[in-house]
Amino acid sequence: MFPEIGRPLDAVLSEILRIREKDPRTEDGTILGTMITTPHPISLKVVSMYLSSTLSDSIIFEGAARLEREVIAALGDLLNDPNIMGTFTSGGSEANVLGAYMLRQISGRKHIIVPETAHFSFLKAEKLGIVRLKIAEVDDRLKVDPDSVERLIDDSVGGIVGIAVNTDAGSVDPIYELNRIALEHDLHVYVDAALGGLVLPFMRDLGLRVPSFDFKLERVLGMCVDPHKFGLTPPPAGTFLFRENIADVIYFKAAYYFEERQYSIVSTRPAWPPVVFWGVINTLGRKGFRDLVRKCLDVRDYAVRRLEEEGFEVPMMPETIIVNVRVKSPRKVATFLRKMFKISVGVSPRLSSLRIVIMPHVTERSIERLIAALKSSIKELNNK
Ligand SMILES: Cc1ncc(COP(=O)(O)O)c(C=O)c1O
Repeated sequence: MFPEIGRPLDAVLSEILRIREKDPRTEDGTILGTMITTPHPISLKVVSMYLSSTLSDSIIFEGAARLEREVIAALGDLLNDPNIMGTFTSGGSEANVLGAYMLRQISGRKHIIVPETAHFSFLKAEKLGIVRLKIAEVDDRLKVDPDSVERLIDDSVGGIVGIAVNTDAGSVDPIYELNRIALEHDLHVYVDAALGGLVLPFMRDLGLRVPSFDFKLERVLGMCVDPHKFGLTPPPAGTFLFRENIADVIYFKAAYYFEERQYSIVSTRPAWPPVVFWGVINTLGRKGFRDLVRKCLDVRDYAVRRLEEEGFEVPMMPETIIVNVRVKSPRKVATFLRKMFKISVGVSPRLSSLRIVIMPHVTERSIERLIAALKSSIKELNNK
């Protein structure tokens, strides 16, 4: 109901607090299935500074717009194209819809090829009438099969999507193969690096083998990277990045603003997400991110070892920071875990497994609590 007369601020705040207390927090160590994490402490300060700013007009809010450009340039530095352009988005889904649009605009063709593991935001792009999808098969590690991609190419196809850290298993498509195919057929590639964009470069820094997946590959025309995933920035904070030379083909005209070009779907965008992320990268530096990634990989290895010691099946050795645990009815077990133990995990119907995303807030202790809860849940469910 829309109240006729307002209540005192204290009363309203305590009601919100009471409701808030029932929701879990990343700090509790019970949120193990999502890609968000505890934001960097700089977030709170920056958000309050920028509450009434918007990036819908980069000419009015010049300072915030400058920091957005600097952050995009920093991502370009990380992802091997110093001239990259881009915009903050509400997240990976908005960026993927823009990526699909980009492939259509650049080719003038309606079909795009996506792996069967593609995030459902590409299905949204199809439902919105932006593209039609052709679905490529994946192998047993859930990486797209390049032969399957090649078989789908015909005159209606305008581009290829690859995923650099997929949602189900955290594995990485062979983007260099997609690049080769794109070269041969005069097509372009869009990379969904919503999670991987801020994980893979640092894994490479740590000396781990990470095949090329970014703008180093000449046919990669656009990417998404989400600061609200591994960038310690509160949502909504995604980015859509694209090569400088396609800006004229993919912009939207913003009639009543001083800045007449926009590259996002959302028009009135909050200014704080790029500023928070600017603060995060300037506080942590590459080294800080490397340390975070190292810590997550250590917890991942701990999780795999302990799960196997306790008799659980981990269907594939994780390539990045997602661990799957095979169980008979994943959705049922996940629901039981949430209701009885207030622990939330993801599910992967494709692998018939529970999905644990080892984000920076996930610790060895949270893994131990999960294992104990999982053992009780399975015992309880088997006795029902
Ligand atoms: C690979 C991938 N792409 C895109 C998305 C969508 O991101 P968002 O939830 O920020 O829209 C996700 C979300 O989990 C994802 O895993």
